[in-house]
Amino acid sequence: MALIAPSLLAADFLHLDAALRMVNDSQADWLHLDVMDGRFVPNISFGLPVIESLRKATSKPFDVHLMILEPEKYAEAFKKAGADILTVHIEACPHLHRNVQQIKSLGMKAGVALNPHTPIASLDNILGDMDLVCLMSVNPGFGGQSFIPGTINKIKQLRQMIDDRGLQVDIEIDGGVGEKNAAEIVAAGATVLVAGSSVFNAADPLAAVAQLKSL
Ligand code: DX5
Ligand code: ZN
Repeated sequence: MALIAPSLLAADFLHLDAALRMVNDSQADWLHLDVMDGRFVPNISFGLPVIESLRKATSKPFDVHLMILEPEKYAEAFKKAGADILTVHIEACPHLHRNVQQIKSLGMKAGVALNPHTPIASLDNILGDMDLVCLMSVNPGFGGQSFIPGTINKIKQLRQMIDDRGLQVDIEIDGGVGEKNAAEIVAAGATVLVAGSSVFNAADPLAAVAQLKSL
């Protein structure tokens, strides 16, 4: 049974309080928060003040996905805003080991995200240092895109690498995840499913979360 992390990016931003009530009432394990800077990705979403306000509306862990350059400049601020898990992109971090240590020393779980073209082998020398690997199954920047099928092989490769080394590292899949492909994704070895449009655009979001959770 995977952890489910609805992505707020797909919510109606005019009614964030309603979105948070839905998440609280649901079986969601985490809330996934996508921060974009318009530089690392070609879109701008929301940032620190919004996350700080949301923190008052739920006790569910905040899984903050930073799609930004120079994340080290903001790690402490995201901790203060309420992040529990902080994920940075390997492509944005020339000193990834330092980023991971910084996040952990601030008392958060450290995640590392890989774009679709970035090979699993790039984690070879650092896998044991992180708590979570986020495999992007779409090109980051926008919700509502289609799952890239080649991600399934990447999940299997990463599962193998983690198990071979006896590590406890979560495998999170982000982008285009929904009831049609979630079973295959979990069978390949994923432990956390991010779901934006498949949850928030569903006729019954609570049922959509429950359905993903039941796999
Ligand atoms: C994309 C974001 C995702 C996005 C997923 O850059 O990282 O978290 O919200 O949205 P869906 O589930 O709609 O693909
Ligand atoms: Zn994300």
